[in-house]
Amino acid sequence: MRKKIAAANWKMNLTWKSSGELMDAILKTDHVLKENQLAIFAVPFPYLHRMNEKIAGRTHTFIAAQNCASTNNGAYTGEVSTEMLESMGIQYVVLGHSERREYQRENHQLLMDKVNRCFEQGITPIFCCGEPLSVREANSQNNFVETQLKESLFHLTADLAEKLIIAYEPIWAIGTGKTATNAQAEEMHAHIRKVLADKFGQQIAEKISILYGGSVKGTNAAELFSQPNVDGGLVGGASLNAEEFNTIIKSLP
Ligand code: PGA
Repeated sequence: MRKKIAAANWKMNLTWKSSGELMDAILKTDHVLKENQLAIFAVPFPYLHRMNEKIAGRTHTFIAAQNCASTNNGAYTGEVSTEMLESMGIQYVVLGHSERREYQRENHQLLMDKVNRCFEQGITPIFCCGEPLSVREANSQNNFVETQLKESLFHLTADLAEKLIIAYEPIWAIGTGKTATNAQAEEMHAHIRKVLADKFGQQIAEKISILYGGSVKGTNAAELFSQPNVDGGLVGGASLNAEEFNTIIKSLP
């Protein structure tokens, strides 16, 4: 059965103190995740180790990095390699978030390299895709997202592809309060699964969790997650509030 996943994306928010308090508040819940459910927290690099210690012993709960280097260890000042992440017990990395594609000029080739660095270390990439408003308005979103998947993921073998997590995040819905409708999310998720099935086979595509991101909140999570091809969410703003994020976790089917 596909994993159902609530993933927090803290982005570049919180301090040492406030991040510790937030995680403690989230973990206070007595909610128990089911066998097929995961909670993942993508936190800033400096907090990875501490957050990993805080979740130690929790079932189905993991810490993720928000980025990694496209190269192996070496003379790359300021970069963080997947070897480093693996060595400290990090099993997930968010890749290709639209903010990194835009502000850090991350392109398909660079993301392909990063995907490869992750798999070399046994790390699961949470690969983000999604169209800007202009593309949605031109009704070209299916082709746009398909290209993102093709250019950075289609070199993978099927046995690696089945380990992927995909996050569909329409840029016009990120941090805007404007969520895709359930129908818009389901339509794109079904399209993504078809693109993956055409390339890697239906059996593989059925195993890949596809998360929705873009203004997911406690009030809309359950409905979004009830769509047949929506396997959970990648949550920015609402993951910075313990009560909200716990509501989102509890909304996983
Ligand atoms: P948001 O961000 O939930 O604040 O819209 C989602 C994301 O960018 O991952």
